Formats: sequence, structure tokens, C-alpha cells
Amino acid sequence: MNGLSIELPGMQLKNPIMPASGCFGFGREFSQLYDLNQLGAIMIKAVTTEPRFGNPTPRVAETDAGMLNAIGLQNPGLQKVMNEELPWLDQFDVPIIANVAGSMMEDYVNVAREVSTSPNVKALELNISCPNVKTGGIAFGTDPSIAKELTKKVKEVSSVPVYVKLSPNVANIVEMAKAVEDGGADGLTMINTLIGMRMDLKTAKPILANKTGGLSGPAIKPVAIRMIYEVSQHVNVPIIGMGGIQSAEDVIEFFYAGASAVAVGTANFVDPFACPGIIEELPGLLQDIGVDHISELTGRSWGKVDQKTYHRA
Ligand SMILES: Cc1cc2nc3c(=O)[nH]c(=O)nc-3n(C[C@H](O)[C@H](O)[C@H](O)COP(=O)(O)O)c2cc1C
Repeated sequence: MNGLSIELPGMQLKNPIMPASGCFGFGREFSQLYDLNQLGAIMIKAVTTEPRFGNPTPRVAETDAGMLNAIGLQNPGLQKVMNEELPWLDQFDVPIIANVAGSMMEDYVNVAREVSTSPNVKALELNISCPNVKTGGIAFGTDPSIAKELTKKVKEVSSVPVYVKLSPNVANIVEMAKAVEDGGADGLTMINTLIGMRMDLKTAKPILANKTGGLSGPAIKPVAIRMIYEVSQHVNVPIIGMGGIQSAEDVIEFFYAGASAVAVGTANFVDPFACPGIIEELPGLLQDIGVDHISELTGRSWGKVDQKTYHRA
């Protein structure tokens, strides 16, 4: 035993490390570099009912400690994901978390109903928090009652546990977390990107065609940690933490704050071996800290003492 295996609603994980949605595609490119069986889980790119081409370019800009993106949920659409991407991923013994997106409630319900029938999809991640997509005025990620309602509707049709991905672009993150927990969420994933902008020095205009984009990477790590710290003390569902994780030490910080597992996003673009590297380093770090199992670290910063069953495999 290397002290890393964990149990989450719907999933047995070899370790708590997974690539974050949108930063790993469907894993095809990464599978040419390393054996994806090493991963705890894979959060696939957002899936919408129809294929989406995303926003106009330029849609990525570097920042001092991360990046801005306004991809706009580009994806091949539900049918192609069901017929090609998920069957391809089935060769790996890794649970898949399907990231579900849409413009209207019916879109989410439709995608959730169908994608949750795929045998390797062990959980859904409801993406109510993408800052780069116009939702026709419906504030899924920032209005607690709408987020709760959506969670409820998706739970009704989903045959696997539902995790809701929270947006950091709100004044009160605890209120959002409690609302989706009330709606029946089995877990939370947090955080998505923070809305940001950069300007082109020559044109004096925003660099991104979409004007604004989502800030990710090390710059947002302290925000993610603060929000997980606040939320984990007020909910009874596990949190998959993300936001700027680059190293095994970062993972420990997220666990101390209250995470039960973590996802690695932007770091995959900087170092495609980021996930396996972290997985390799973690057992030594646990030994240095003096714990047998990583789940013992969840919520350590605020004195969480009860070891809930979902923490330990
Ligand atoms: C290029 C890019 C595309 C993304 N696409 C998605 C997506 O499709 N669905 C989603 O829920 N989050 C998406 N995200 C957000 C990430 O999953 C993650 O929440 C965020 O980047 C914070 O983690 P990080 O700082 O480790 O990247 C995307 C992020 C990036 C950088």
C-alpha cells in the first residue's frame, strides 16, 4: 500500500490525482507519453449536446503566473464522445468523470442522462461555472437557487454520482456550495477559472477575441485554497480541489485545506508529465509528514477529526 488509494462517491481511485477538465482533452495525446493507468481518474473535456467550435481566436494568453483562456467549451458533441472517445478510453482501468455543460437546463439534463450510461463514466462533473460561455442570461454558476435546481434535475436523470464544479467568481462561495449540496450533489469540484483580461500594447485592445478569459495556474492557487478551506467546513460531501496545482507539495496544501482528491489543470500544458510526477512523489512526502494515508490530511488545517468512509479505500 502506498497510502494513496481513496474512495469517492461512485469511484475507487488508485490515487487522488486526476487531470482537470479541458486540460487533457480525452487523453489521446497524453497516452502517447505515459500509461494513463497511473492516473486516479480522468476528467474529460466538457461535453455539450451538439458539437461546439468554441470562441474565435486568439483565445489563449499567457500571464505572469498562469494563463487566460476563452476556449468556449469546444468539443465534438455528445454523440461523438459516446461513440468514439469514451469507448477509446475504456481500454484504461481508470474511472472517467464526464464534464457536462450546456446553455440551458435541458442541455445539461440531456447530456447527463446519456453520458452517465457509458460503463466507464463513474461520475459527472456539472460545469455550471465556465466564464467563457454566454448562457442566455441564466446564471447557473452564480445564482444559488438556479444552481440547486439544476443539480436536482440532473440528479433525477443521472445513474452515477454528480459532482458540481463551483465558480470562484462569486461573493459567497459557501452559499453556492450549500445550495448544490441541498440540491443533492454527491461532491464538489472547485475551483474553475477566475475572470481576467489582458491588453495588447500595440492595439490597446484586449488580447483575447472574447475580451475576457478564465485565469488559471499558480496565480489562482491561494484563492482555491481559501475557498476549499471555507467550503469544506460547511458541507458534508467530498471536494475535489483544483487551481494551480503543480507539485506534490501543492497537493498536500489542498488536502490540509479540506480536499479529498485533486485535479491538475494548467500544469499539464507546462509539463505533460505533471500528473505521473506528482503521483510518484507523494508517498515520500507522506512519509516525511508522518502519515500512513493521504486521507488523514483532509481538513487538517481546521482540525477535522472524523475520517468519513469516503476518504479511505
Ligand atoms: C484551456 C483550458 C480549458 C478548460 N476547459 C474546461 C472545461 O471544458 N470544463 C471545465 O469544467 N473546466 C475547464 N477548465 C478549467 C480547469 O478544469 C480548472 O478548473 C482550472 O483551470 C483551474 O485549475 P488549474 O489552475 O490547475 O488549471 C479549463 C481550463 C483551461 C486552462
